[in-house]
Amino acid sequence: MSDAFTREPPWDPRRFPPAARAPRTVQTVRLLLDPQGYGRALRRRFGPVFSLRTYPYRGGLVCAADVATNREVLTDHERFTGGDAAALLAPAVGAGSLICTPPPAHLRHRRLLLPPFHGARIACWAERVGDLVRARLPALLTGGGVPVRPWAQRLTLDVVLRVVFGLEDPVRAAAFRRAVDAFVASDNVAVLFLPAPLRRDLGPLSPGGRFHRLRASVRELIRGEIAARRVAPDRDERDDVLSLLLGAGGDGPGSGPGDAHLLDELTGLVLAGYETTATTIAWTLHLLAHHPAVRDQLADDLDAGSDRLLKAVVRESERLRPAVHNAMRTAAHDTELGGHPVPRHAFVAAVFPLTHLDADLWPEPDAFRPERHLGADPAPYALTPFGGGLRRCIGTALARLETETVVREVLAAALPEPAGPQESARLMSVTLVPARGGRVRLRPRRAA
Ligand code: HEM
Repeated sequence: MSDAFTREPPWDPRRFPPAARAPRTVQTVRLLLDPQGYGRALRRRFGPVFSLRTYPYRGGLVCAADVATNREVLTDHERFTGGDAAALLAPAVGAGSLICTPPPAHLRHRRLLLPPFHGARIACWAERVGDLVRARLPALLTGGGVPVRPWAQRLTLDVVLRVVFGLEDPVRAAAFRRAVDAFVASDNVAVLFLPAPLRRDLGPLSPGGRFHRLRASVRELIRGEIAARRVAPDRDERDDVLSLLLGAGGDGPGSGPGDAHLLDELTGLVLAGYETTATTIAWTLHLLAHHPAVRDQLADDLDAGSDRLLKAVVRESERLRPAVHNAMRTAAHDTELGGHPVPRHAFVAAVFPLTHLDADLWPEPDAFRPERHLGADPAPYALTPFGGGLRRCIGTALARLETETVVREVLAAALPEPAGPQESARLMSVTLVPARGGRVRLRPRRAA
């Protein structure tokens, strides 16, 4: 069991913000099935800071649900520490990945990873991302109702493999796809939520054994890419993340990052980067299908060569249905949040869907109204789909490039229409996914 879980203080109602009395299993199921509805019910009852008592946490998961506490949790790094707090994800992404690295090493690792993800560098990928989107578009334009999320997952995995590894060989890309798909399948990832003894490798048929085998196949492929790139003659001319990292200064003076560090870092990038982006793409097309007036206005705006409304649409989708449910920290010492006690080592979550639906910040919070993003910027920390502070997502520019490219290309070819009722959100691990994959039907524009 990871350190953060071992250190976590047990539940004690006097030491934590208030919580519902329902048993842990009931709270877990309610959160998974209706993360936004259940969170809002608790916020109405207890105010902007409350505890959730859900698996796999044994104490209370302290939740911050308004702009003031969201900001405190994300930016007060002395009180709320990141890295260890991502203990839940460590067995998947690797304890040495940026996501799981606590300070002070975190800043050093982040400095290494930031340059390849800088906005200007990511902009150089626009044409190649456009090519990948156009190549995959026919699979979406079937004429029938299709769930966008699985389609987008295939696309965003291809993009991340291209951007991170420069992978173009179709055979190796297919091997990656098979390995990653099997590893992130929900029945496999569910292992992360099992009690520690059941997560162990107890033979090939045990859930833990299967998890470790599938993880090993993903990491083997990544190890192969690292080894090949170390000796590639064209390494210095390449612009993929792996080549840039190999050319960068790393752990020691004059040396680049070592293989073990690279392996965790690259695994983290692949896993952090593709499902989140696919989920945002799915929500955006699904919301457009269910809001035809916005959709038609957007199509006109794009036809006129503007991307102003496009950016506003993507922001509104990120507000209403943020792909990542929360950013996690742990309390560095006994402290308080919103007037409630928080014990040392407790897990503390900045819960984005709640701040994003706060009526004091966002009038008519449930309405899909992209034009609200056309004026002034929102209040700081009112809109944080990519987290904030020193740990803000490094993939923001890439994720936005992918989402905007998909929406632009889809709307050039077709208009999304509903293929069933508007879908509610479910919580899958830390991702807020559309319950049926974000189904839409695409009507070709020539026939429109
Ligand atoms: C729409 C898509 C995405 C969303 C919604 C998203 C969201 C987030 C959030 C909420 C965090 C936590 C921030 C915090 O703790 O304050 C995060 C961290 C991170 N994300 Fe993303 N992300 C997305 C795409 C990507 C992509 C494309 C990549 C890279 C390929 C990526 C790599 C990372 C990494 C490495 C971290 C850890 C940063 C750190 O701890 O310093 N993400 N992301």
